[in-house]
Amino acid sequence: MLAPLSEFLRATPSDGGIYQISAARPFQHKEEEYDQHRPAEQHQLDFIRQEGANLLAFFHAHGHPQGAPILEIGCGSGFMTTSLASQSAVGHLLATDPSPAFCRIIQRKLAQFPVAAARVDFGVLLAEDVHLIPPGAVSLIFLRSVLHHIAGVDDFLAKCASVLPKGGMLICEEPYYEGYVMMGFLAQFIPDALASAGHNCTAEDHAHIDNFVATMQFYARRDLDKSAAEDKHLFRPDELARTARATGIDFDHYPNWHATIADAKNRTNRIGYFENFFAFYIRNCMNWPADLVDRVIPATRKYFRFFSPLESATNTAPYCFGTFVFTKR
Ligand SMILES: C[S@@+](CC[C@H](N)C(=O)[O-])C[C@H]1O[C@@H](n2cnc3c(N)ncnc32)[C@H](O)[C@@H]1O
Repeated sequence: MLAPLSEFLRATPSDGGIYQISAARPFQHKEEEYDQHRPAEQHQLDFIRQEGANLLAFFHAHGHPQGAPILEIGCGSGFMTTSLASQSAVGHLLATDPSPAFCRIIQRKLAQFPVAAARVDFGVLLAEDVHLIPPGAVSLIFLRSVLHHIAGVDDFLAKCASVLPKGGMLICEEPYYEGYVMMGFLAQFIPDALASAGHNCTAEDHAHIDNFVATMQFYARRDLDKSAAEDKHLFRPDELARTARATGIDFDHYPNWHATIADAKNRTNRIGYFENFFAFYIRNCMNWPADLVDRVIPATRKYFRFFSPLESATNTAPYCFGTFVFTKR
């Protein structure tokens, strides 16, 4: 007898080895250029990186057996998919994205690794359609930087609860409200900080700074129609906990810690966490030119010293990005 996930896929139409669970929807940018936006330190081959092993270790530490079927939603160009596929403890991974072009990119990356490729199936799936996966067919649903793109988060959580078996997990790595709002607030003072360090802002500098401030505010606002926007939400753990409780799932979260990056024992912040996150964000997510980043970092350093006594082993840096763990009761 086939496992429920394999049985479901066998009955689903496929095109070029990609199961068509939802209607396809292209990404808002060119898929082939997606890897160029990743920071240089991540350009190492995905399959030899540790993220997949770390995520599995976290999942198995919560009592799940090796080989338990996994659904990845919003796999993009395969940052996690390829790393997970290289793990012998992965039994069956269904990697999905609304964009078939992303699935094809990962198929290409895995083409020279037949053992890893054999562990993965690909699907076109919108998170909003996750309830099409049969109940109990996957034990882990994983999203990295995807939950904040989904319009109806509460609805999505309820649908995941209907798919997961008892004890099944939904793990998401996502932005917190607190740290992003603080970054936007701080960014308003950058022109003054630059001026007092002897740098006059050019019109181009002002455009980058204004865009950053507006982006953080847009992200945080809840009074706007964001259906056409790519980035929709920042998360507050108290709100997620309330929704989860109402949906029959337990909720836990690990601020400033990634299940995919750090081992489970290493959940404390480092001194400089918030300043480093800010620098990473303006450089890699806002794509500021290097010369602006190189002026802003020293000019704002004195303000970040406020956080130094907070960022000790007590893990009290502002919550920026972290891991949300939902477990079906
Ligand atoms: C920021 S990228 C992250 C990609 C990948 N998870 C990574 O960590 O590199 C967001 C991904 O989510 C996908 N996505 C956006 N909206 C989605 C939705 N409603 N349902 C499923 N995936 C979605 C996009 O196609 C894209 O691949």
